Amino acid sequence: MNARIAVIPGDGIGPEVTKEAVNVLKVIEEKFAHKFEFIELDAGGCAIDKYGECLPKETVNECKKSDAVLLGAVGGWQWDNLPGNQRPEMALLGLRKELNLYANLRPAMLFPSLANACPLKPEIIQGGLDLLVVRELTGGIYFGEKGIKNTDMGKTAYDIEQYSETEIRRIAHTAFSMAKVRNKSVTSIDKANVLESSRLWRSVVTEVAKEYPEIKLSHLYVDNAAMQLIRNPKQFDVILTSNIFGDILSDEASQIVGSIGMLPSASLADGNFGMYEPVHGSAPDIAGQNKANPMAAILSAAMMLSYTFNLTNEANAIETAVNSVLEKGYRTADLFCNEENTTLLGTKAISSVLCSLL
Ligand code: IPM
Ligand code: MG
Repeated sequence: MNARIAVIPGDGIGPEVTKEAVNVLKVIEEKFAHKFEFIELDAGGCAIDKYGECLPKETVNECKKSDAVLLGAVGGWQWDNLPGNQRPEMALLGLRKELNLYANLRPAMLFPSLANACPLKPEIIQGGLDLLVVRELTGGIYFGEKGIKNTDMGKTAYDIEQYSETEIRRIAHTAFSMAKVRNKSVTSIDKANVLESSRLWRSVVTEVAKEYPEIKLSHLYVDNAAMQLIRNPKQFDVILTSNIFGDILSDEASQIVGSIGMLPSASLADGNFGMYEPVHGSAPDIAGQNKANPMAAILSAAMMLSYTFNLTNEANAIETAVNSVLEKGYRTADLFCNEENTTLLGTKAISSVLCSLL
């Protein structure tokens, strides 16, 4: 297969981890006789420094010409005082919107050898954890009208949460299709006891569910869901939720599977196009120190192989290699807790062990 992959390293630990993900893809290329062309592009804080804007038009155009995008992370303290609409994070939101990446898949799986990194009691996670957060990514409060006005209470800022039936319907279809090939259960998470947008969400999801009689649908309020994720995470298979609730719950899910350093994501448009990125951010505190866990970026590359290119064997090979690295006791700092038979490794070293196991 020939593929054109746009690579956006971004800021902080982004460049370190994407570099390792690309290295892994190069090994796959060789082993499985594919031809990947990598095009490196700027976005985020580094683009602000270079061009004065976080998302140059060129970056968007090149992404559109590619089959898939691999992204590291954006943001950092250097740009924290910029006005909201000029922050590096706007690059991410801009890419999601411009590329119509409305479906965000964030699988949270507990690798057996990381059971000790999970903060929950062993009996709660007995038998493992494997859930998928399906987060709506191009609507809701992230993209609603926002602003600041003067009122008799002083300056008043607002961000509007709004969802259309079309937006809810398409992400619901994504969640149900995912559940079909998993454990056939969808939990839709909203705040329908308070929010009008959540009530529409709930009714559209219930409507769509009728097309998937084999899938069990339940609804939870987001506050309860946050609690249930800790109390009994095994009750979840596919979690379907809005942009902002998905942002929050996926970080929570990441901790119960050990570390956010292990969580990959896929952001999908209609068709096969997708952008793949680790869920962790730019982690400026450890940037450039060869400490970051590259697994989330590497697993994101695996998701790319499977979702955009349909290369399931290749994707499985990467996941198996990640598992072997962990089984052999290799850990980056985020996962290292001085257990017997474990070795602390840096970003580059753990990735080269992984490549050698592929
Ligand atoms: C994420 C991040 C982003 C989000 C930020 C960096 C804009 O937290 O992908 O989860 O809120 O979507
Ligand atoms: Mg987040």
